[in-house]
Amino acid sequence: MTLAIIGGTGLTQLEDFEPLASHSVKTPYGSASADYVSGKLGDKELIFLARHGNPHKIAPHKINYRANLWGLKELGVTKIIAVAAVGGISKAMSPAQLVIPDQLIDYSYGREQTFFAADDAVVQHIDFTYPYSSSLREKLIAAATQVQIHLVPCAVYGCTQGPRLETAAEIVRMEKDGCDIVGMTGMPEAALARELNLPYATLAVVANWAAGKTAGEITLADIERYLKIGMVNVALLLKALP
Ligand code: HPA
Repeated sequence: MTLAIIGGTGLTQLEDFEPLASHSVKTPYGSASADYVSGKLGDKELIFLARHGNPHKIAPHKINYRANLWGLKELGVTKIIAVAAVGGISKAMSPAQLVIPDQLIDYSYGREQTFFAADDAVVQHIDFTYPYSSSLREKLIAAATQVQIHLVPCAVYGCTQGPRLETAAEIVRMEKDGCDIVGMTGMPEAALARELNLPYATLAVVANWAAGKTAGEITLADIERYLKIGMVNVALLLKALP
């Protein structure tokens, strides 16, 4: 089984990851965000991809999700853990907290949503009732227990378009819809992985309280500070994956 980690904001590079080779893959959908890097994390072999490019330069709505996922499949990847920075909406989702969502709601628009988009392609309606792989989620939860990192094991992820952050009213609406966390890159990534039959789970790191959930402005400095703390735990957890 070859594991891939897609790193998001705050995870352009994976701590303690020993890169061994880099791979550029030609896909029918164009270029991936960056070269894929195969290497070792502890005794685990994996392939790493920086979702926003390395250095971080591609906005969430401009990411070529199809190329990113297609390339992973071409490289023989069989499961994907997507690390993503999010804002916290519900009470338990405080900054630096790790969260494994079990559901999502997609508010993004105008992104290429499917590999079956050509005029002559047969339309496919993949089952997406449960968007994340339960076995991969369980592995992440087991790893967190082993290294004693507290995480929230269930949450609804709302995917917004970005790149701006949300208004307070948008967050109120999302909360009413049942969203616990908000990010900008969860879709169409999860659906494209399902189309390729690749088990996929998200490991989210809360970077800030979502808009309107605290009195002050959301600052980049705060986001960076909390992401840094959260990412240390992400690296520990990934190393302990069964
Ligand atoms: N909203 C959307 N995406 C995010 C946020 C947020 O508050 N924080 C980190 N990614």
